[in-house]
Amino acid sequence: MKILVTGGLGFIGSHAVVELLDNGYEVVVIDNLYNSNIDVVDSIKKITGKDFSFYQNDVCDLGVLEKIFNEHTIDAVMHFAGYKAVGESVKKPILYYENNLVSTLHLCKKMIEHNCFKLIFSSSATVYGEAKILPITEECEVGGTTNPYGTTKWMIEQILKDITISNPNFTVMVLRYFNPIGAHKSGLIGERPNGIPNNLMPYIVRVATGELEMLSIFGDDYDTPDGTGVRDYIHVVDLAKGHLKALEKAISSQGIYYYNLGTGTGYSVLDLVHNFEKVNHVKVPYKIVERRPGDIASCYADPSKAYKELGWRAELGIEDMMRDSYNFILKQKDY
Ligand code: UD1
Repeated sequence: MKILVTGGLGFIGSHAVVELLDNGYEVVVIDNLYNSNIDVVDSIKKITGKDFSFYQNDVCDLGVLEKIFNEHTIDAVMHFAGYKAVGESVKKPILYYENNLVSTLHLCKKMIEHNCFKLIFSSSATVYGEAKILPITEECEVGGTTNPYGTTKWMIEQILKDITISNPNFTVMVLRYFNPIGAHKSGLIGERPNGIPNNLMPYIVRVATGELEMLSIFGDDYDTPDGTGVRDYIHVVDLAKGHLKALEKAISSQGIYYYNLGTGTGYSVLDLVHNFEKVNHVKVPYKIVERRPGDIASCYADPSKAYKELGWRAELGIEDMMRDSYNFILKQKDY
């Protein structure tokens, strides 16, 4: 079975490609290297001992998609490609709406033209906005997004629903990720954002290596046990495994399905810092600063639907996440 993976060299996509190859799938990757690195191709081959096809192109490019679907018989698509920086999306909304929506529309158009009807889509817990009830189930209201990036995820969910209504063969697994962190245990692939990181974990690791001086914790006056923001951090390898379970279900189902991929456990910013220090025996200097606009106090999943229907649940714990995130950064040649 051959799977097209868009954004397959990125943080989550590369881990999914490893799981697919390890489980006997053939893989075709399209990635424009906007937020990824070409050397991930070799890292994936090194980890798996397997080869795959790679197109260094943009998913918005209809001509390239046509070429890929002509050159390969694609059975299903995992769609990871997309812009994902919250702050940047506020500054460049046109770029975000154009890229994230057009790429998905073009992909679906070419899939249908080539009789490929199984899509696994990277959505986000951000579609729930500020949830009124915790833990968040798939039944919670969606659409209260607070930034253009989040709104693209919500809009794409609506588009995919309409496509499944118009075409009963078209099957979509909408996977709503909570906060993916960690890295492959080999240390060969992981999260490597360009420039100064916006997200917590990439920031912590760079403070630990001394590249950045100090972590700023955005507020300690939230209504949480220690006052800092609580999130549901999930190991990226667990997340990647969830995609394979969703793929198996997609192959034998029709319609659109929604799953939360989280652990169900919330950790605060201070929990993360303290666990990181304990597991890796390093100091992470921090200071408390103002709240970050748009942040919410707590967000964690009820992941029981994914367990009931996909037979998937997260197996790696906070210590694995802390160890693997640091191991990856230490193995990068810049350090
Ligand atoms: C955000 C997005 C989410 C997206 C994810 C990954 C929203 C509401 N959330 O999640 O959709 O999938 O990024 O791109 O749009 N923090 C600090 N100091 C820092 C960085 C973060 O204290 O330097 C705190 C934040 O206030 C928050 C927690 O750490 O409480 C996690 O932040 P972050 O890693 O940026 O993820 P989210 O904001 O949860």
